[in-house]
Amino acid sequence: MSIQRIESVTYGVADVAAGIRFFDDIGLEKVEEGSQRASFRTPVNQFIHVRDIGDASLPKSPESGSTMREIVWGVDSQASLDALGAELSRDREVSATPDGTLHTRDETGFAIAFAVSKPIEAKVEPHAQNSFGATGRLNRRFQKIPKPHPLRLAHAVFLIRPEGGDKACDFYLNRVGLKLTDAAGHLGKFMRVPGIADHHSLLLMWIRKIPVKFDHIAFEMRGFDDVMSTGPYMEERGWKPTWGPGRQPLGCHMFWHFDNPCGGEVEFFTDMDRFDDTWEPVTWQGSPGSPWTLDDQIPKMENQARVPAKP
Ligand SMILES: [Fe+2]
Repeated sequence: MSIQRIESVTYGVADVAAGIRFFDDIGLEKVEEGSQRASFRTPVNQFIHVRDIGDASLPKSPESGSTMREIVWGVDSQASLDALGAELSRDREVSATPDGTLHTRDETGFAIAFAVSKPIEAKVEPHAQNSFGATGRLNRRFQKIPKPHPLRLAHAVFLIRPEGGDKACDFYLNRVGLKLTDAAGHLGKFMRVPGIADHHSLLLMWIRKIPVKFDHIAFEMRGFDDVMSTGPYMEERGWKPTWGPGRQPLGCHMFWHFDNPCGGEVEFFTDMDRFDDTWEPVTWQGSPGSPWTLDDQIPKMENQARVPAKP
């Protein structure tokens, strides 16, 4: 079985109008809108569904209020989906909807689902750039980026209790098929889909003070200028920045986070570290420190010794 990517995310939202305006503003294509609902699509055919918090058809969340209600992961084939369904049915309830999607829950109680992935190609023109010894933009000026243009939905992050945290991660690593990239003892585990992949597709992060919580989803942007242009664009429309801009200590992506009225935050990022299946997971005893940041919330600890994770 081979898990590929996040296929869709569904939110249950108290202020549906604000949720729709938010995803409109971040530049996703709106493909459906009703009185208390809307759906948006990324250029590579992933979906964000905004639904009313009282919609009885939504899976329950362990968290109250506006939040993510289900995340659907895409797999590479019907055979993979069947195998995954059989595997997960060994110890939990797995139900199927008429479209073939399999629905269940992870170890923390978050609603998750699986479907055959339906990616489409997105034609992306990189910004022409000049650098020492290479002229990519001659006799023309850099063009202002008029509005955000997310390319794909790349990762999700949940906050869970550290007690049982390893078991929660083992479910995704040993049953679902994600790979461990970094285990940060102080923070949580960064897991990615197989193949050449982002540093993380899923982060389960330890939280000690509050109950479990959906934290954020992240959209990959075309480059540095897109992230830096998106920040002020969102602020001008009244959306609240929460973290960044800067580069993350692990994953090393350049990022900027905003509050999402649908629940949690949305991250805009670019240039995340990538790994393939030859990568040996690393255990961190502390934060490696941010390469750079304009936000002093990011820990600026000195590099710590790296210790290979136990198999
Ligand atoms: Fe993130």
